[in-house]
Amino acid sequence: MNSAVTAKQYENICVLTVSNPPVNAVDAVIRAGLIAAVREAEADPATEAVVIMGAGRNFIAGADLAEFDGEIPAPAYAPTLGAIEGCGKPVICVIHGITLGAGVEIALAAHYRVAVEGAALGFPEITLGIVPGAGGTQRLPRVVGPEQALALLLGGAPVKPARALEIGLVDKVAAGDPLDAGLGYARELIAAGAGPLPTRDRSCTPGSLGDELVAAALKANARALRGRTAQFGMIEALRAGVDLPFDEGLAAEKGLSDTSLRSQESRALRHMFFAERNSAKVPGIDSSVQPLKVQKVAVVGAGTMGRGIAMAFGDAGCEVRLVDIDPAGLERGEAAIRANYEGSAARGRITHEQAAEAIGRITYALNLDGAADVDLVVEAVFEDMALKKDVLAWISRAVRPEAIIASNTSSLSVTELAAVTAHPDKVIGLHFFSPAHIMKLLEIVRGGATSQQTLLTGLEIARRIRKIPVVSGDGFGFIGNRMMLDGAFREGEQMMLEGAGVDQIDNALEAFGFAMGQSRVNDLAGVDIGALVRKQLALRESRPDPYCIVSDTLVPMGRIGQKAGKGFYNYTANPRSGELDGEVDAVIERLAAERGITRRVFTDAEIVERFVLQLINVGADILKEGIAYRAADIDVVWVHGFGFPRHLGGPMFHADTLGLAHVAERVTALYAQHGHYWKPSELLLELAKSGSSFAEYDRAAARGE
Ligand code: COA
Ligand code: NAD
Repeated sequence: MNSAVTAKQYENICVLTVSNPPVNAVDAVIRAGLIAAVREAEADPATEAVVIMGAGRNFIAGADLAEFDGEIPAPAYAPTLGAIEGCGKPVICVIHGITLGAGVEIALAAHYRVAVEGAALGFPEITLGIVPGAGGTQRLPRVVGPEQALALLLGGAPVKPARALEIGLVDKVAAGDPLDAGLGYARELIAAGAGPLPTRDRSCTPGSLGDELVAAALKANARALRGRTAQFGMIEALRAGVDLPFDEGLAAEKGLSDTSLRSQESRALRHMFFAERNSAKVPGIDSSVQPLKVQKVAVVGAGTMGRGIAMAFGDAGCEVRLVDIDPAGLERGEAAIRANYEGSAARGRITHEQAAEAIGRITYALNLDGAADVDLVVEAVFEDMALKKDVLAWISRAVRPEAIIASNTSSLSVTELAAVTAHPDKVIGLHFFSPAHIMKLLEIVRGGATSQQTLLTGLEIARRIRKIPVVSGDGFGFIGNRMMLDGAFREGEQMMLEGAGVDQIDNALEAFGFAMGQSRVNDLAGVDIGALVRKQLALRESRPDPYCIVSDTLVPMGRIGQKAGKGFYNYTANPRSGELDGEVDAVIERLAAERGITRRVFTDAEIVERFVLQLINVGADILKEGIAYRAADIDVVWVHGFGFPRHLGGPMFHADTLGLAHVAERVTALYAQHGHYWKPSELLLELAKSGSSFAEYDRAAARGE
């Protein structure tokens, strides 16, 4: 036994507690501890039953993902779970708090399972591109049947105790303390003379995982599984679980699980898991600095963004005052927020009471009178430097000196904006993405004067409103918009000029895995919105022509996107997906001719390559300039803000997959062909030359090198 698994005797019951803070992830120490502890309890004549539970808030949140990068250290999962399942005394597992993956697999190797109310249990492995490797695909169908097993494994979402009881995943649900639940159930079982009940001895009907069941489950999860492959290994392993004797099935699962762990898909998804958590860690912050508390919030500007931002804070339980100088705008904002919550209630996403509560948390005003006690003001007025300066100065006069003032600007210098306030150290950029109450990404922009405490408060705000924060320096377009405008979308438009079709580009990007192609994104978000941002950015730094010239020509023609019925596509006949429009082709052809660009046919592969290489090259510059702390942060921005396929791990991870030597060679070749916008990033060349990677760059930075 070891300190990760402790045993305590309660009369004739031995309780084993697994401890590996913060979430009791299973590693080799825990596996060794479990084997030793179970054997010891089995050998102890005073023990009649063994209870396994977790220390702290939950049982076990899964395997330690850090172990998956290399050979999993001994002891392996199979002998560990074999020791539990083979114990000659009844083993009862208490499922409490968040119990996932290997946690549920261990519970399935126990003989009896009791879930404590409030628990959530499931198999998130599919979201990490992994086939479970601790017998999950073998024991689960023996306990809940093939259909439910398939739903749990392919869906990946956890279930509550009541549902787990309904499908037979647990034997009992108890209220209250996990220890009491375990002891109570163990006493009940001892009194009933219940013996060990190994799951491996149960069987499924061979052939009962039919093709129809599989097809239905794949269809039900088609959206989440788009572009992924782990589900096929999962189905094969499950089939082995249903059709084969236990040991044979287990061996088949092991092979499939090992293959999945080595897959690029799983590496990418695991990279994203850690990237999303690391992005909230800011290097160099003094450990004595504490974030400020944020409860009362004012949002200035009740337009598209202001409404979403108000809802994001309201949803987190904050008191929100939404302010707009235009009474009609304020009214529209209020109506939109009300309609949003009422719509959610009508669709059954929230209850009517929850909708009423959420609506009640947001109040509306034409000014900031009485806002002296707010902790945070987020401004989301029109994107205009002079206006924003006026508004920030006004906010600064209205609030107390401690209050944080945030700008949702997409393009303006936070440093310059902060200078008009009384306390520039309290000013920060909080760059939300549209729709702000839904999109998970929050770029936190540190201005030149932003204090460590203000930055930490920004991160705390992100945690509070359940956003994934990425800290950005105060440069042109921050992280996301710079990569989009200087890099990918500009290049997309360049390819249009050179002859690639608007829809060909969109389709190629979507086939690569992007949630939506660039012209469809532009039409949905509003071509004019991007043009406005570029206009402001142009005041910051100029860019040589052609720079998003197609968009900038469409806007004055009224082709501003879906809201106008036309943009890159025409939406008259087909309001949702739109149709190609000869007028746009004519514009593109004219713009190309004016610039002496020869048009030609493109392959889809060429389109994707140029789009993605641009992201990587500009991303590398951003990293070199210190605008982003880590390559992984850039990946988070592109996966969560711009629909880059998660299973490819973000553009920088994808660059490592392609190999930086190859990337550098291609960028250099394209530079020779196209000049300016393809100037290879110094960092890219450096890393490629030394045989390094962006992942290695991040690791070196984390070591302080
Ligand atoms: N392996 C290794 N580390 C893990 C882990 C795992 N399975 N699960 C969580 N952690 C780490 C996180 O990286 C984080 O570390 P950090 O504090 O250094 O950033 C810490 O535990 C807390 O996790 P976090 O996600 O920030 O906490 P939370 O309370 O928001 O969420 C969980 C808790 C368990 C819901 C969430 O961490 C999770 O989904 N974990 C993965 C579960 C999983 O996929 N298991 C199956 C593995 S096959
Ligand atoms: P919007 O035009 O929809 O709304 C702006 C609102 O601000 C209007 O209701 C207007 O009445 C109000 N307003 C103007 N002057 C004001 C003042 N002095 N005091 C109070 N209210 C005032 O604009 P939007 O699209 O919501 O953009 C707002 C900000 O968010 C901009 O800085 C924009 O760059 C940024 N942003 C927009 C998006 C997007 O997709 N729309 C995404 C990220 C960031």
